[in-house]
Amino acid sequence: MASTDTEQWVNPLRDVHDKRLPRIAGPSGMVIFGVTGDLARKKLLPAVYDLANRGLLPAGFTLVGFGRRQWSKADFEAYVREAVEAGARTKFREHVWERLAEGAHFVEGNFDDAGFDQLAATLRDMDRTRGTSGNWAFYLSVPPDYFSTVCHQLERSGLAEATAESWRRVIIEKPFGHDEASARELNQVVNAVFPEESVFRIDHYLGKETVQNILALRFANQLFDPLWNSHYVDHVQITMAEDIGLGGRAGYYDGIGAARDVIQNHLIQLLALVAMEEPVTFDPTELQAEKVKVLRATSPVYPLSKTTARGQYASGWQGSEQVIGLREEEGFDVNSTTETYAACTLQINSRRWAGVPFFLRTGKRLGRRVTEIAVVFKEAPHQPFSERQTASLGRNAVVIRIQPDEGVLMRFGSKVPGSAMEVRDVNMDFSYAEAFTEESPEAYERLILDALLDESSLFPTNEEVELSWAILDPILEYWASQGQPEQYRSGTWGPASADRMLERTGRTWRRP
Ligand code: BG6
Repeated sequence: MASTDTEQWVNPLRDVHDKRLPRIAGPSGMVIFGVTGDLARKKLLPAVYDLANRGLLPAGFTLVGFGRRQWSKADFEAYVREAVEAGARTKFREHVWERLAEGAHFVEGNFDDAGFDQLAATLRDMDRTRGTSGNWAFYLSVPPDYFSTVCHQLERSGLAEATAESWRRVIIEKPFGHDEASARELNQVVNAVFPEESVFRIDHYLGKETVQNILALRFANQLFDPLWNSHYVDHVQITMAEDIGLGGRAGYYDGIGAARDVIQNHLIQLLALVAMEEPVTFDPTELQAEKVKVLRATSPVYPLSKTTARGQYASGWQGSEQVIGLREEEGFDVNSTTETYAACTLQINSRRWAGVPFFLRTGKRLGRRVTEIAVVFKEAPHQPFSERQTASLGRNAVVIRIQPDEGVLMRFGSKVPGSAMEVRDVNMDFSYAEAFTEESPEAYERLILDALLDESSLFPTNEEVELSWAILDPILEYWASQGQPEQYRSGTWGPASADRMLERTGRTWRRP
């Protein structure tokens, strides 16, 4: 839709700072299941406060926590306040807090009939007293084993039922399944209760400003697109490196591993955004259709023994701190086969990308925390320089830095000053922090607000989730037959097999 009528056409990916377009959620409330968990405490509750502080929540916004604790309203308020004070991005302001606290309620219960009947009664009461108008988002911040029970209970208690005047939505945290078959089953369970347009699956990477900037970079400019194909691109490297370990997260991570934890969702979404064709508009269906198309064309490169690598961190040094290996971390077995490092080679069977490998890697306890996408170009077809003159010249690259130091970097050759002709790599660096004064909202702020506003562009659909698993499944099956992952020292850049994986193709990993 190429409408020029800005009154009519509202870009779903529009700038939240754009004062011409108020993005204030209408009357509504949110119920958080798993409100005492880490995610809720560290991310969701602070994000709700930040939204309130920015004036983006309705006056009667109501936050309901559901859990087993025997908490009064005052206990819940104290818990939320502590989480907000510790984690909010924006300044703590007493009057904003007081308004939010007025609408904070806790419902004590298990996932049984009594608990949900109580919840239903509370929400009816809130609709009457706080003007939430029957509009409720249910945030499932619970392990996937509970999705089915919670959805069933929401249906049984009538809570899933929208009316002509009110909406009901479900927001779901990952992991969404552990392979394609289980993801499909989960989708069926959820979609049996909530129609797909009411389901908001969280991939918090899509809420990051720099991830949305991939679309701006590619589709708002003329500079990049002519080069964005197999004629000029040699390969693409997508890296998500973390310096943290897994202390305290065994319950979630053991048996899941790095590929399921972040490749299936965050890294494959990044691949889709970098590689997809231009959508007709940024309307959710058009955007998602392009992502689905590129994911459908994506598959692993074989043989997997040579095109993938996995590892597990051993003890080592993280900066000046001596750290233990995964097998010594509390809750992990000494024989654990869970990988903390995963790398794979994918291909996209399309005219644009034929023959261009996409190398994806992620790991815990690596050299430093960085997420970036490097589009690495082929060598110039002809060099009118001697080999000596270009000995220090690498491949040209466009590097999209997702975090930290958000920005875009271009790497190309330049003459070294002096009487001799010597060409060496230099960086041209765009930094968000220097170019813009506004601070970016946190991913969860953006995503919670979008869910309340019914804007689904930044949420993967059931089809995207299933396709991502279909890409990864053969690799996971192969690894499952391979015993223990290779050990790598904490604070390094991962197992030697990951370096060999690239060296075999005549390439090397970037050292970000
Ligand atoms: C989560 C993973 O999805 O992303 C974590 O489960 C990981 O293991 C986290 O640490 C990283 O998120 P961010 O936003 O800090 O890059």
